[in-house]
Amino acid sequence: MVPNLLEKIADAPRLPSSPKHEKPKFAKEKVTVIFVLGGPGAGKGTQCSLLVGKYNFSHLSAGDLLRAEQDRPNSQFGDLIRTYIREGNIVPMEVTIKLLENAMDAVLVSKTGEGWGDGRGRFLIDGFPRKMDQALKFEEDVCTSSLVLFFTTNEETMLERLLERGKTSGRDDDNIESIKKRFVTYKETTMPVIEYYEKFGKVAEVDSSPAVDEVHAATIVVVDKVLT
Ligand code: C5P
Ligand code: MG
Repeated sequence: MVPNLLEKIADAPRLPSSPKHEKPKFAKEKVTVIFVLGGPGAGKGTQCSLLVGKYNFSHLSAGDLLRAEQDRPNSQFGDLIRTYIREGNIVPMEVTIKLLENAMDAVLVSKTGEGWGDGRGRFLIDGFPRKMDQALKFEEDVCTSSLVLFFTTNEETMLERLLERGKTSGRDDDNIESIKKRFVTYKETTMPVIEYYEKFGKVAEVDSSPAVDEVHAATIVVVDKVLT
């Protein structure tokens, strides 16, 4: 299925094949990329929004990009994405990486230099990489990451937050059956990514159990170090 997918992506009108470029596509001198990980409901999106306000990051949520592609009329990936998301599985990396690359391109074309103190594009890539293949491919083809922000709290808290969000989110996967599957995927597939980056000293773990402001205060301490 994956080689097929690659061909499809190359042909899709909104997912054009990239022109040949030196790898990785975005040099480290041009962009700062922070990956944001943590279990479902750990508070990644909430914390990213606060960081955007403070540092002018462009916030790219892999899940949001996938849902937008899923809902785009005539997307040939809509059904595939829907099935993977409902089952709490990781969408084949070619789709997600291409969506991220396109989104980074769009940001850099539209707002280079604007509000970025050091002149580099600043990206928070939220909910990515969720699987080792995504991590390796993104770093090889697209850009090297500077930091992995890792939000942790217990499963009870995450479940509570997700069920609360599910009342209004309209998301197909904020229900108890999907949530259980997402927790399994997180442990089995995403935790190895964290362990991999830990070996390189790139992970900053932040306890996301306390109130939002308190978590934010702890987060800016580590983000400041990366940006200076
Ligand atoms: O991050 P978020 O909770 O919005 O992700 C929702 C779903 O999107 C995940 O459970 C997974 O099915 C899919 N996803 C993915 N690969 C990513 C991020 C999200 O397959 N890197
Ligand atoms: Mg999110």
